[in-house]
Amino acid sequence: LSPQDLRGKKIMLTLGPTREYFDKARFWSNPSSGIMGASLAIAAALRGAEVTAITGPVDIALPSLIKRVPVVTARDMFEAATDIFPSQDIGCFTAAVADFRPPSCPTGKYKKNGGPLSLTFDANPDILATLSTAKKSWQQTIGFAAESQDLEHNAALKLRKKNLDLLIANPIDEAGAGFAAATNRVLVMDRHGRQEAWPQLPKTEIAWRIWDWISM
Ligand code: C5P
Repeated sequence: LSPQDLRGKKIMLTLGPTREYFDKARFWSNPSSGIMGASLAIAAALRGAEVTAITGPVDIALPSLIKRVPVVTARDMFEAATDIFPSQDIGCFTAAVADFRPPSCPTGKYKKNGGPLSLTFDANPDILATLSTAKKSWQQTIGFAAESQDLEHNAALKLRKKNLDLLIANPIDEAGAGFAAATNRVLVMDRHGRQEAWPQLPKTEIAWRIWDWISM
């Protein structure tokens, strides 16, 4: 039997990648599977929360007790999250948002002409930083960080800079961790300075433990 320790909580999650189209046929994106976010969404719903998942393009079915808001681009995700977050108790930001977007093609599709293609990308909004720095006193935010070096130091900086309650950080370029894997090895830290390094675990188990931490 699941504990009902998240009953009465409204939880919004972002999950999956975003896609930034630069012509009618092609986009800039990343290999995020959405597994971590979907695991968190399902675990929270089982534990009694009212869950809304803002999903980038992922091939994942979610149970119907989770409200799903599908989006494509980072700007769509930003708009949806900005609309929904003010009514939520917790925001959990697992999406691998494209930090930059290419300009859209004026002619519909770029044709090859033997030469290179140069595009200047614009910066996308940081959804988590924007919503988390403006959150209300009753609201909590959870962020993720994939770091290539100085995991602990960079994670601690990100926790403070983005005004997070909880940060889950993982090293990139490690087998069985990060993008599109079913497992991850994470360092968890909260705003009170509590910190734990977890061994490699299934993302479903990491999700369950994250909600244990939040509902402590
Ligand atoms: O700064 P960095 O991209 O490492 O931060 C990762 C965290 O911020 C993740 O929780 C991710 O979902 C969130 N994020 C976001 N919007 C962006 C970039 C990252 O919400 N444009």
